[in-house]
Amino acid sequence: MTLSQLKKHFSDSLSEVYTDSESVFIFQIFTEDILGLNNFQQRQSADLELSDENANRFQQIISELKTGKPYLQILGETEFYGMKIFVDENVLIPRPETEELLEFAIKKIRDARFEMQDVNNSEFSEEKDTKTLQLSGSPIKILDIGTGSGIIPLVLKKHFPKEEITSIDFSEKALKTAKKNADFHQFEINFIHADYLSLELNKNFDVIISNPPYIGIDEDNEIADSVKGFEPKMALFSPTSDALIFYRKIAEDSKKHLNKNGLLFLEINQKLGQETLALYKDFSHSELIKDLSGNDRFIFGIK
Ligand SMILES: C[S@@+](CC[C@H](N)C(=O)[O-])C[C@H]1O[C@@H](n2cnc3c(N)ncnc32)[C@H](O)[C@@H]1O
Repeated sequence: MTLSQLKKHFSDSLSEVYTDSESVFIFQIFTEDILGLNNFQQRQSADLELSDENANRFQQIISELKTGKPYLQILGETEFYGMKIFVDENVLIPRPETEELLEFAIKKIRDARFEMQDVNNSEFSEEKDTKTLQLSGSPIKILDIGTGSGIIPLVLKKHFPKEEITSIDFSEKALKTAKKNADFHQFEINFIHADYLSLELNKNFDVIISNPPYIGIDEDNEIADSVKGFEPKMALFSPTSDALIFYRKIAEDSKKHLNKNGLLFLEINQKLGQETLALYKDFSHSELIKDLSGNDRFIFGIK
């Protein structure tokens, strides 16, 4: 079978699951992964004969894709914030909104670091900003709740290598993947296996950041089968009908365990913006922030 024949077979076989353009996109990704050919090389290789082994690999992938399994889970990795991240069936596949959360958080943490150092030189370049942060005094302490694949601590560690990051997850399997990602990037992150909802924090933090489960257990009819069937339920659903259970605990913990002027960054259920924001009214500043699609998606707070 040639590459162009395989491409047609791929699209035809998946026509009930994917549109033509989606199939082409996914085919390109697997062709690059299996044959090591970039898009340009793939276009030049229409007549390339596939070995039986490679043809069988594609057939296996088609069978898995037909079940509705997300292609990134089959591929086993994705790119997030410019970083290679291993993913599997035990972790939430990173979402673009979380990149937005991190972009915002990085800017705010950097600004806060500057203020703490009383550096006020508008001529500082981006590069100098980072260096100043790296050279700053004692590390700030960051708590990430519900780490999944570890994308939040990984991206923060890349931008703030000297800061101390603790990440909690209740799923041992998710933590295994998060540790694999941390090892791959050679980052030191303090991973803790615990049920956050019953955990008593025993130290204080300067930053709390979280993308916790935020769908009430009785709202599962609102989630597409392709998500529910393949992504971990623990990552999506609150354990009770209270979709805000994690946010209430975070608000409670922030009273004692978030330092004065500490920063809070949360990804939230777009339908519960005002209710979620109300939990943080004791903060000196708290605001609802929209994502690029215009939905209420994040909360930023300063204690
Ligand atoms: C929405 S996912 C977010 C994962 C990752 N931070 C991200 O943004 O892609 C929520 C995570 O919270 C974890 N989780 C669920 N219940 C938890 C609990 N009671 N304590 C700690 N972590 C929990 C899940 O295992 C999952 O990894």
